[in-house]
Amino acid sequence: AETLRIALAGLGTVGAGVIRLLGENGGLIAQRAGRPIEITAVSARDRTKDRGIDISSYAWEDDMTVLAAREDVDVVVELVGGSDGPALALARKALAAGKDLVTANKAMVAHHGLELGELAESQGAAMRYEAAVAGGIPAIKGLGEGAAANRIERIYGILNGTCNYILSEMESTGRDFADVLGEAQALGYAEADPTFDIEGVDAAHKLSLLAALAFGTRLDFDAVATTGISRIRAADIAQARALGYVIRLIGLADCENADGSRHLFQRVAPYLVPVSHPLAGVGGATNAVVAEGNYSGRLLFEGAGAGDGPTASAVVADLIDIARGNVPPPFSLPVSQLEASAPADPGN
Ligand code: NDP
Ligand code: HSE
Repeated sequence: AETLRIALAGLGTVGAGVIRLLGENGGLIAQRAGRPIEITAVSARDRTKDRGIDISSYAWEDDMTVLAAREDVDVVVELVGGSDGPALALARKALAAGKDLVTANKAMVAHHGLELGELAESQGAAMRYEAAVAGGIPAIKGLGEGAAANRIERIYGILNGTCNYILSEMESTGRDFADVLGEAQALGYAEADPTFDIEGVDAAHKLSLLAALAFGTRLDFDAVATTGISRIRAADIAQARALGYVIRLIGLADCENADGSRHLFQRVAPYLVPVSHPLAGVGGATNAVVAEGNYSGRLLFEGAGAGDGPTASAVVADLIDIARGNVPPPFSLPVSQLEASAPADPGN
């Protein structure tokens, strides 16, 4: 069968993870995909950087947007980051050229997902972003495909590995916020600008994607009421504990009032979680996504929410789907059919 040829833009934590995974598990991936998946070209900022991986057999492009024009590329994999700039330019160019797009970039999808989704649909191209939400957890597939028969009543969960790592480390060791944040950065969990993590913005990006998928509503990142964890101190954690709670940064969305009218309520904030609740036991960079479906009942997806291996696993799962021809619309429904739901007043 024909090889699926991919171009990789971004060779950092996630990009290098994808190269390692395709190398190490290439045989079983080809078997499951029904054809080999091979990298033909790559791009990043610095060609000479030691990345601990061998990129000598791939073509190099200084200008990453050129990847989208190469004839030996079927799928562009964007692992650069940033809601705009080169990542967005590349995504637009790839889809406009009819190439499939795989991205881990929740900031870009939260801000420009509808435009990119429409472009993908008009070009008959795939747009996949499993790695953008909750690292290695197949949350997009779980909601968009596994739970597709359900009316989803509510979604909530722990959507940022860096914050969960900070809160649970502070809780178990009593260490200082800044100290633990530095460690999360060193472990490759944090965004290039960690303010996005600790101010709840990254979790809000992810929540807006999950909400669109779960409720069939248009993406509305701007309507997420967002509070981060930067003001939480060890004393807050100790006091919560004394009262029988832990503190977790939770993203929560629902879309129906008690009278049946539709709204879209989206909030990211530190919540007090009773120690007996399943989310209280979610520690480290683990994420958890809970979806309540009217036939499935409560679904709980839990797993590593950040880091090279788990995120690469999600990126390559998207590639396998594309190789198999499993290409659902980016938000489960064609973009034109997504409901323009009035945002609920979060009451802030
Ligand atoms: P890194 O910062 O580790 O890597 C970014 C890569 O993009 C680097 O190779 C860098 O080049 C390249 N790059 C950055 N800016 C430019 C630019 N202006 N022009 C050309 N190349 C550029 O990021 P991550 O791998 O951690 O994240 C990548 C994406 O994956 C982001 O969208 C992030 O949100 C998302 N993500 C990350 C997760 C994680 O756990 N790290 C988990 C899930 C999603 P160079 O190496 O030469 O500097
Ligand atoms: N910075 C993100 C996190 C990476 O900590 O969850 C995974 O999306």
